Amino acid sequence: MTNKYKYFVANWKMFGNIKSTDTINRVIKLSKQKNLKKVKIIYCPPYTLLSIFIKKLVNTNIDVGAQNCHQSQNDGPYTGSINSQMIKNLGCKYVIVGHSENRTNGDNNYLINQKIKSSLSNNLNVLFCIGENIKEKKSKRTKLVLKTQLTKGLNKVKNIDKIIIAYEPVWSIGSGLVPKNKELIGNIFFIKNFLKKKFKKSNPKVLYGGSVNSKNIKNLSLIKEIDGFLIGGASQRSNKFIDIIKKTFN
Ligand code: 13P
Repeated sequence: MTNKYKYFVANWKMFGNIKSTDTINRVIKLSKQKNLKKVKIIYCPPYTLLSIFIKKLVNTNIDVGAQNCHQSQNDGPYTGSINSQMIKNLGCKYVIVGHSENRTNGDNNYLINQKIKSSLSNNLNVLFCIGENIKEKKSKRTKLVLKTQLTKGLNKVKNIDKIIIAYEPVWSIGSGLVPKNKELIGNIFFIKNFLKKKFKKSNPKVLYGGSVNSKNIKNLSLIKEIDGFLIGGASQRSNKFIDIIKKTFN
């Protein structure tokens, strides 16, 4: 294993109830193993379970993140929303911003940029999702899309020390499809290069997300450019999530 942290982010999406929080006990146990010191596990459950996760994970090295936030830094009359200040106040360290499931629900690059800035000002780490859809991929516009999402999403952001990019091709989310290694390496390289140039940062972090499972993880973990994984479906069952973490290193 290298000196770098490998991230395993569990995005539970709109799944889970109070009972299902018990299933993470096995992951907590795993995280205490000495040989997993360089592993950073982050749970992003639905808002309704955040405080339970935070209580459960106190005194562990597992962190908690929210799946989205409102763009406003301050409280306000926004029914059904929560802001980054509230998320921070709860004890979360991370927030996912720009997930394609929220982009299709109205989050555009401008809103995403506001959300990122508001989260940073509340001292949260941001998991900033980007990725092309199938139409964009087929018309060979992937790099253009990635560049636009990065440029607009990070507009007037001064440094990316607290930002981790999650490259999630929309067509691979929940589909069982994963980009070929060559394509994945090319796109991750493109993202890292963009960030290195723009932010003069020597080692920006980029995760991969989209249909990661215990079958394809062995192959994905061969790609050194990937700093970790954002995992949806396979993270909701602890046995599968554990399998993925273990197989990354063995
Ligand atoms: P799946 O792992 O279910 O494809 O979801 C990926 C994702 O959207 C994580 O944010």
